[in-house]
Amino acid sequence: MSDFKNHVVAITGATGGIGRATARAIIARGGRVVVSDLDASKVQDLVEELGQHAVGLAVNVTQAADNQAMVDLAEQSFGQLNGVFLNAGIEGQVAPFEQQSESAWEDVFNVNFHGVRLGVQAALPALERSGGGSIVMTSSVAGLRGAPGLCPYVASKHALIGLMRSLASELGPKGIRVNTLNPGPVDNRMMRSIEEQSKPGQGEVVKQAFTTRIPMGRYVTNEECAHMAAFLLSDASSGVSGNTYLVDGGYCAG
Ligand SMILES: NC(=O)c1ccc[n+]([C@@H]2O[C@H](COP(=O)([O-])OP(=O)(O)OC[C@H]3O[C@@H](n4cnc5c(N)ncnc54)[C@H](O)[C@@H]3O)[C@@H](O)[C@H]2O)c1
Repeated sequence: MSDFKNHVVAITGATGGIGRATARAIIARGGRVVVSDLDASKVQDLVEELGQHAVGLAVNVTQAADNQAMVDLAEQSFGQLNGVFLNAGIEGQVAPFEQQSESAWEDVFNVNFHGVRLGVQAALPALERSGGGSIVMTSSVAGLRGAPGLCPYVASKHALIGLMRSLASELGPKGIRVNTLNPGPVDNRMMRSIEEQSKPGQGEVVKQAFTTRIPMGRYVTNEECAHMAAFLLSDASSGVSGNTYLVDGGYCAG
């Protein structure tokens, strides 16, 4: 498949479960990637695994200058930027609303919302120079529904959907598409953390409880999320903008 025609996509949170799978999926479809995450050595290992169609750098998405450096690296290395997968996120504390600390709210909003906003700000001039492009933000089923114990996370993921819809309206005339990827529970590190925080020492019980609410009877995989992200970032979705794209095994159907 060559849906990317050498397109260049910058990815944040790229050494995590969904980001890494998406970098692999884009390269497999003929694209090139700039991979970024907090830990420089993990980024370097990923670049080596991905090969000649990948470059990378350490990026803290809460820093405007880091987001700019990511965009600059795309243009310096590959001459253009055609898409951004603004995917870095943190789950924060699992605790009732009254017990969420001020810093928990700040941390979650700084990464999950402002990190994405800053990514858009850095990418826009480069996307315009390329004649348009695709912005994909990783929201969640938690962007569409509430979840007890996860107020900051849920609020931040809802906020991304508002940002996406407004940006899709503003940027459509410039040929820039904007969508959110909304995974349900994914079988990876973040869900292990949420399960363990919810019932310390009994994460498997929490997983079972989540699983009974998923019509397909299982969590989705990083790769299943990556296929959707890659679709939204590629020319195969050239008419698609301003919407939420669930990969949730039917979780939100009921
Ligand atoms: N795992 C799930 O069940 C699930 C469900 C719905 C949505 N999501 C969302 O998917 C996205 C990817 O998460 P994942 O499931 O791959 O989990 P993950 O923890 O494996 O990946 C998240 C990545 O973001 C990076 N990151 C965190 N803070 C950062 C910062 N300040 N700057 C740069 N990078 C930072 C982490 O280092 C990590 O590699 C997140 O936005 C998450 O909220 C996950």
